[in-house]
Amino acid sequence: VTVTDKALDAPWRAWSARRPPFAGVHLDAAAAGRASTEVLRAVAQHARRESEVGAYVAEAGASLSLEAGRAQLGALLGVPTDGVAFVESATAALQALLASWPLPEHPTVAVAPSEWGPNLRVFRMHGLEVRLLDVDDDGHVDIGALSDLLARHPPSLVHVDRVAAHRGLVQPVDEIVAACRVADVPAWVDAAQALGHIDAVSDADAVIATSRKWLCGPRGVGVLGIAERWWGRLNIEPLVLQPDRSVVGRLESDEANVAGRVGLCVAVQDYVSCCPAAVQHRLADIGSLARDTLADVPGWRLVPSTDPAAMVALLPTDGQDVIAERRRLLADHQILVTASQPSRAPLETMGATLRISPHVDTTDAQLDALARALALTRR
Ligand SMILES: Cc1ncc(COP(=O)(O)O)c(C=O)c1O
Repeated sequence: VTVTDKALDAPWRAWSARRPPFAGVHLDAAAAGRASTEVLRAVAQHARRESEVGAYVAEAGASLSLEAGRAQLGALLGVPTDGVAFVESATAALQALLASWPLPEHPTVAVAPSEWGPNLRVFRMHGLEVRLLDVDDDGHVDIGALSDLLARHPPSLVHVDRVAAHRGLVQPVDEIVAACRVADVPAWVDAAQALGHIDAVSDADAVIATSRKWLCGPRGVGVLGIAERWWGRLNIEPLVLQPDRSVVGRLESDEANVAGRVGLCVAVQDYVSCCPAAVQHRLADIGSLARDTLADVPGWRLVPSTDPAAMVALLPTDGQDVIAERRRLLADHQILVTASQPSRAPLETMGATLRISPHVDTTDAQLDALARALALTRR
């Protein structure tokens, strides 16, 4: 697909120019965004420095950048700097949270049916019983029903994905968190698909996120944020080797991909310099343009959404195998999308979909090319 980027406004042309050229059309930010050359350079430079001066000396040398990144991540998530821990993934963040949270005996967690499947597994592995929240026809948590539940049968905690993994569903997190605060039930937010995508600030008790998706940071790095009101109640032993680390900082592994953390801090700086509100606005626009472009493609049914997310789910209507379709799009058209299996959201019986997740540098021509390629589907 030959696509000129002339159609892009200057900031998004610049965003694209800050990255190596992609071999085709990248519509897969919800899986992993494209790192900038600066992020790649920072990661490589840190790794090189580890060899040149010693790994721990290099880490100490990077401390100012790491602390600046920690502060920026905290601001983007609504958590004080000392409440932010660098971990290995959003899943690792959830595990660290469950291992340290003062849960009661026989804990329960209430989630929406759209909850990310691997999170459900982690809850069960930690002995939590999963309960379902009531939602409206589109899958948004019903706030009235939530308040009722919190008053009558409060779960030990409520956990919501701010943006679902498999379709453009954005939960009303502020209202959910407010209802939980009134009932004194902790609210945890999974911002893995929200950070760098939509406004991810909240007053939640805890938040988990990841580097590699919308922020376009390196893989293998995640973020955990915990509200200050919980720091004194967490079950976290002081570290043997670094006893003066902050309470939440003690949840970080001593042995870590520090180069990846350094890269994430560069990616966060890039996002902040781009102006998060402008990025969020552009992503909402491109999501809505993608839905308009793909609404009537033969052989596919769009999962409707009016939420401001750059994520589109298409259901096959002619029995196509989405894994084969994803492979065909990549091999024949160099268009990268995700084949999304029902296991991503097993409590929502939606079936397999193709997930399309454009970033800010996606052009109208690229979306048209995808629509044409999809229409060529083999039935
Ligand atoms: C909503 C949601 N939560 C959590 C995760 C897990 O993130 P990680 O792969 O960093 O553990 C994902 C990954 O796709 C996700 O979409």
